[in-house]
Amino acid sequence: MSFRTTSTDYVEDVSPGSGALPPRAWYASSDATSLSLNGTWRFRLSPTADAEDDSFAADGYDAGDWAEVAVPGHWVLQGDGAFGAPIYTNHLYPFPVDPPRVPTENPTGDHLRVFDLPEDWPALTDGGAVLRFDGVESCARVWLNGTDIGEFKGSRLPHEFAVGHLLKPAGNVLAVRVHQWSAGSYLEDQDQWWLPGIFRDVTLLHRPTGCAADFFVHASYDHVEGLGTLRVDSDVDGRVTVPELDIDVATGEPVTVPVEPWTAETPRLYDGVLATEGERVPLRIGFRTVALEDGLIKVNGRAILFKGVNRHEWHPERGRALDLQTMREDVLLMKRHNLNSVRTSHYPPHPAFLDLCDEYGLWVIDECDLETHGFTEQAWRDNPVDDDRWTPALLDRAARMVERDKNHPSVVMWSLGNEAGTGRGLTAMSEWIHGRDGSRLVHYEGDWNCRDTDVYSRMYADHAEVERIGRGLDGGTRLRRGLPFIQCEYGHAMGNGPGGLADYQRIFEAHERLQGGFIWEWIDHGIKHPELGYAYGGDFGEELHDGNFVCDGLIFPDRTPSPGLVEYKKVIEPVRMEGDGADGTVRITNGYDFADLSALAFVWAYQVDGETVGTGALPVPALAPGESAEVKLPEPPATGRSGESLWTVRALLAEETAWGPKDHVVAWAQLPAGERQSVSVAASAAPVAGERLITLGPGAFDARTGALRSIGGVDVAGLRLDVWRAPTDNDDGASWQDDTRWGVLWRKYGLHRMRHRLDAVERDDDALTVRTRVAPAAREIGLRTVYRWTSDGTRLKLTVSVAPEGDWKVPLPRLGIRFGLARAERVEWFGGGPGEAYPDTRSASVLGRWESSVDELQTPYVRPQENGARADVRWARIGGLRIEGDPEFWFSARRWTSEQLDTARHLTDLRSGDTVWVNLDHGQHGIGSQSCGPGPLPQYYLRAEPTEFSFVFSKIG
Ligand code: GAL
Repeated sequence: MSFRTTSTDYVEDVSPGSGALPPRAWYASSDATSLSLNGTWRFRLSPTADAEDDSFAADGYDAGDWAEVAVPGHWVLQGDGAFGAPIYTNHLYPFPVDPPRVPTENPTGDHLRVFDLPEDWPALTDGGAVLRFDGVESCARVWLNGTDIGEFKGSRLPHEFAVGHLLKPAGNVLAVRVHQWSAGSYLEDQDQWWLPGIFRDVTLLHRPTGCAADFFVHASYDHVEGLGTLRVDSDVDGRVTVPELDIDVATGEPVTVPVEPWTAETPRLYDGVLATEGERVPLRIGFRTVALEDGLIKVNGRAILFKGVNRHEWHPERGRALDLQTMREDVLLMKRHNLNSVRTSHYPPHPAFLDLCDEYGLWVIDECDLETHGFTEQAWRDNPVDDDRWTPALLDRAARMVERDKNHPSVVMWSLGNEAGTGRGLTAMSEWIHGRDGSRLVHYEGDWNCRDTDVYSRMYADHAEVERIGRGLDGGTRLRRGLPFIQCEYGHAMGNGPGGLADYQRIFEAHERLQGGFIWEWIDHGIKHPELGYAYGGDFGEELHDGNFVCDGLIFPDRTPSPGLVEYKKVIEPVRMEGDGADGTVRITNGYDFADLSALAFVWAYQVDGETVGTGALPVPALAPGESAEVKLPEPPATGRSGESLWTVRALLAEETAWGPKDHVVAWAQLPAGERQSVSVAASAAPVAGERLITLGPGAFDARTGALRSIGGVDVAGLRLDVWRAPTDNDDGASWQDDTRWGVLWRKYGLHRMRHRLDAVERDDDALTVRTRVAPAAREIGLRTVYRWTSDGTRLKLTVSVAPEGDWKVPLPRLGIRFGLARAERVEWFGGGPGEAYPDTRSASVLGRWESSVDELQTPYVRPQENGARADVRWARIGGLRIEGDPEFWFSARRWTSEQLDTARHLTDLRSGDTVWVNLDHGQHGIGSQSCGPGPLPQYYLRAEPTEFSFVFSKIG
């Protein structure tokens, strides 16, 4: 066989490719043999698309000196940097925009794999074979045994080739040339790392004579009659059996029987088989009907409320090459955190993920692999989705998604793609999808007039706008006004946050038209890095990048839930419990759309001063969805103790389920029963002046400056007013945001470099008073700050009074005091916990007694920033001191200062010093979502206004 250099014109061709089979349903046969070609492949990287000829595809080619890569995998994440590096951009194309041309520098990976057919592979004369690629970024050309079998684009979509006639029993040579850039790259401008490679499975499938080819399972549910109708349309005739339902019908024939419906809450699947002459295909059938009715998205006759998340596929070491275990972990984490839906942003996921969604129960918006966001830079000129030349590629993508995933009950909507503007190509996709599958709705966010979609969808609309939409006051076309609304993205989970979720949820629940939303996004796409911990944009020397905008998930790169996920779990909990702990009743409401409460067991606990003094079961009726009941709490346990008292009611899984253990907490509420008594310290001791020190009760102060030196012998360093926090990503806001990017303004006004001027140290009979003015250079604004110390002889009380001066145009980041302790390891507190909380992220903060090491108090945001505050703290013990707040305070402690936290770019930049810096805050500014969405709501602003707060210190023991 002779070889020539194949033209590389296909790389820049707008067409989807050539040689592939028409798309069809993705399934695993029960009896047809298959061979996974995953594993170690030979690999050669070239700098351009045409640097090498294609002789490597020939039989007998010696690739002995080539490197190796793992398939599935991305070559840039392998080879310790020898194979190039990942590039992160949000929407900017990392190459000149000149569609469909791509740069000459086009990393091209030749992949080679020699394989034998397994012993049990049927005779080569029996049927055929199909070679399937589940995902290759971004363009591949394939040869089998020296024959060029085609080329394709559409990275996160399957491509199959008929190869039966080319196979031999042994020594088959599969050669795949993968180009990082292609015309397809213009359609794949999603906000994520650019990661070339064969990143999903490669499989050889035997196709017996008479095998099933493509089939479409139609399984609807009539909620009025309780009947399911099944019809399996199959390209190849056969029979469909569902033993549990006594179904045995021919393909194409409908059958109606009583069934239990499938919903995300009750994911009832029936096992069936499609048997054609040559093959048996297992079916997992879920009966459900999705409809747009009365302007609402209804499933089985009921409107649903999406409590969702946007999920990119991500693994910190393997990128988008996900194993089943990781996919399952995602689904389990979602279920355990009360999520009920996923938008597969912004491409169809690995098909196994959808199997898991069917099985465990999640509503899915399956999104096509399409985004052309970079064209926004040129006002959408030349946008491929509005250029007929590209329409075949768009339709090919739509078809590959729909055909592959059409048999999943979990998929309730098809999404045309993301951020691709509008245009004829999108309309063509929508028309094709509607024609092919009338049993689901079509989604697309970029179409605010809803020409191509069945729902009005937006991203990052602020609370006020969502409320207006809910009330139908948002205007828009007539068509749009009649449609339901979802936020396909909201709550930007970048770094600390997102804030304001509870406020959104209240609005969603108050208006029928609002059918919930999807947090942006599931996981931080940090890449594990030997020196940096997790790398983000710019860490690989990219000339163009968007920094840590790629780390904006509810879980950290290692899949540990971040406080954002814990907050979201609480905000969307499916059972609401409200009431008055003092009168002993709790109103329980079932917030599920379909399930009753029979799977849950309720328990109560009664706390006095944070200590649990009694627990028990709380009988609650198995309320139907939407139903409420008043439930009487028992008599509070007689403890004889007075103090702050509180009921906690929890809804637990009564039994182990597919996704959670028995006793897993699904929902909870705390109902105050008796108030906290205020702290009182009689100012009975007088300050005594010594030569260098003034003493007051247990406190020792510098005689000249009035600075606190120690309390009961415990050294206290640098106690003073503190207003600075290391700005969070949401404080800093995104570059395109308006004039309320507080993180930026705080720096402009100098709040990170406040100066403390000492005005007076005054000694009275019962107090030591230190008067100061705290202000930044170059500005007129300042905070008159008075520290007033009193003592009853054993305890030391500090009252801080703050009076702003000048024209404060910005809120404060925080307001409180900071000081250093030399020996502090563990912290105990009575207040909110166990995790961090901020004014608009505090729903999940549980009042009680907590204990932690200082290190465990830190939340490891990939880019270091303010974190770790505990809310509503009554008292805390740390470093030999007990601190009580009047009123309650925000507590944080760390082994570095806020200034050090502020300069760190990665967690590995943070070095523990000898001092533990403790912040006791009277206030914290809200968090919001401005790294992409709206900032904190006004009620969460920490305004500069006259304020007074106190702390009482005593030495422990
Ligand atoms: C949206 C986009 C997402 C992501 C997000 C910000 O505009 O659809 O892909 O970029 O913003 O993280």
